[in-house]
Amino acid sequence: MKFYLQWYARLPSTNTFLKERLAVERGLPSGTAVAAREQTQGRGRRDREWVSATGENLTFSILLRGKYEPRYLPSASMAAAVAVAELLEAQGLTPALKWPNDVLVNGKKICGILSEKISCGVIIGIGLNINMQRADHIDQPATSILIETGKRRDVDELLGKLLKHLSVRLDEWAHGGFSKVRKNWESKVPSIGKSVTVRDGGAMRTGILEGFGNDGELLLRDETGAVSAIWAGDLAV
Ligand code: BTN
Repeated sequence: MKFYLQWYARLPSTNTFLKERLAVERGLPSGTAVAAREQTQGRGRRDREWVSATGENLTFSILLRGKYEPRYLPSASMAAAVAVAELLEAQGLTPALKWPNDVLVNGKKICGILSEKISCGVIIGIGLNINMQRADHIDQPATSILIETGKRRDVDELLGKLLKHLSVRLDEWAHGGFSKVRKNWESKVPSIGKSVTVRDGGAMRTGILEGFGNDGELLLRDETGAVSAIWAGDLAV
């Protein structure tokens, strides 16, 4: 997959901006990628805010056109998370994936992903902490590449590298769905086979994490041995 990258100094939110642009530029190509040095209204999942100091981190969004079934969509973020984890591995880190779409390093969040369905496909928004020095503003313990390695990185260069990983994983996802990236995803989930707690709607459920289904749904085995699929929620760490 080919990307068409545009950098902006400041945007409210790269996800929102892409949506607004699509409304006026209906021919915007699949692969359009919009990155901002600063977001003034960065958004996270569950209506949370995504805060990122100007110029320090990566905040960008990608347009993927396609007629995807709704059940197919949550795993777009999972495919993107695999690509982020591969970039981090190449930087010498050992990332872990936390369903549905967080990337952690040493148990702390380094990347969040917000995928949103639109009429012509999906927008995938990625926030990756690169040169953030202090981690006191995210919904859970957070970290950055700088905090983990003690070294600053060139944000533009890392985006170039990340787009290469994304190109491979999103292509796989677009053509074969989650089952194409499942092996890679599962290899980076340390809690498989262990007891986990998952928020399923309003309820908290505990069981053994069996793995993930064809569309990225989480498979949880309860004490009776029955395995149920959870389609939306959060894994508690
Ligand atoms: C989360 O973990 O809750 C998801 C965070 C997603 C943040 C990214 S930053 C780029 C894109 N634009 C946004 O407003 N949000 C996403």
